[in-house]
Amino acid sequence: MPRAPSVLAATVTDEGVPERYAERPALDRSDLGPRLSDAVDRIDDNVDQFYDQFPGPSSEDLVYQPTDNMDGWTTSFWTGQFWLAHEVTGRERFRDAAETQLRTFERRLEEGSVTTHDLGFLYTLSAVAGYEVTGDDRHRETAVAAADHLIDRFWDAPGLIQAWGDPDRPEEDEWVHGRMIVDTMMNLPLLFWASEATGEDAYAAIAETHARTNAEHVVRPDGSTFHTFQCDVESGEPLGGETHQGYANDSCWARGQAWAVYGYALAAEYANESAYADLAAKLANYYLHRVEADHVPRWDFDAPDDDEMRDTSAAAIAACGLVQLASVLPAADDRADRYRNAALAMLDSLGEHYAADPERSNGLLTDAAYNRGEGDYDECCIWGDYFYVEGLVRATESWRRYW
Ligand code: GLY
Repeated sequence: MPRAPSVLAATVTDEGVPERYAERPALDRSDLGPRLSDAVDRIDDNVDQFYDQFPGPSSEDLVYQPTDNMDGWTTSFWTGQFWLAHEVTGRERFRDAAETQLRTFERRLEEGSVTTHDLGFLYTLSAVAGYEVTGDDRHRETAVAAADHLIDRFWDAPGLIQAWGDPDRPEEDEWVHGRMIVDTMMNLPLLFWASEATGEDAYAAIAETHARTNAEHVVRPDGSTFHTFQCDVESGEPLGGETHQGYANDSCWARGQAWAVYGYALAAEYANESAYADLAAKLANYYLHRVEADHVPRWDFDAPDDDEMRDTSAAAIAACGLVQLASVLPAADDRADRYRNAALAMLDSLGEHYAADPERSNGLLTDAAYNRGEGDYDECCIWGDYFYVEGLVRATESWRRYW
């Protein structure tokens, strides 16, 4: 069993919240309400094309191409936008589209790929959101079934959820066997939710253990994160960290850091554990000290100086994570306002500098980097678009989170 959250959080350096976020940004020129309306209009424009199909993970020349829902990790970020648009507008058109897409998530559990930690992303924004918005028990059952697949990926000795591959078939890919990744922190809410929905503690116990193991191995003492970390599944012995989408094994991939901030801020609320909030704050502070002047990070904080490539999707995730983090800090903690200020600055910059041109693109945000190393960058990414809309909803509406 990994060490207690308070002990783990205490081992991590805290750089403090940068002074630049002490002031609330002036948003007079770029009020976020109209930005949300624009985003909802863009979602509306795309309903017909992506009704029972889905935009791919990232665009091609800024245009998303259709894909089905039998594999991959990103389809729910489109369904999630439908749920948000339905909640914001009350329009049945968006709910109908989301309900239609839910059928493909049900079918995937029977016929498609479920051998992935991404079941959290996939079923939180589709089935959990659907249940929370409509109260339909069919969606609740779908979400619990997905959580059941997710806990099958848990290795007891190291105390982690294997990210990729089939845990029962190590011979297929030794590299993925017993490998955890920082992104999984955002797949844990499905398990915390499943415990609340069913009254079964086992889901949350696995989520908590994974969160601790992640804090022990994936979080580094300086407040940065590895992208991936492998452990021996029999002995639990830590084998070491490596990157998959970042610049180098010892670098800090900006999106991974954002996943960790948001993931621990959510774990803090579900587990009622202030040490997770402390850890999220230290991770956030590392991020905020390295983000660029326009509040959007380069794709990796340690990429070479001449590599200016941004990842707007990291900024959108971070903005949502910081608002969640502010909500779990004690009322008198003055870091909360600074995190809200930072989130507003990020959302403002995304809308001001990185909004896709509707004449050229069916996405919302440009300059997302799915996988810089493999040449997939400078495009729209469907999760970046989702978190941008979630961030605008969080900033302008009273909203009950899906995570
Ligand atoms: N979860 C995969 C990614 O962030 O690219």
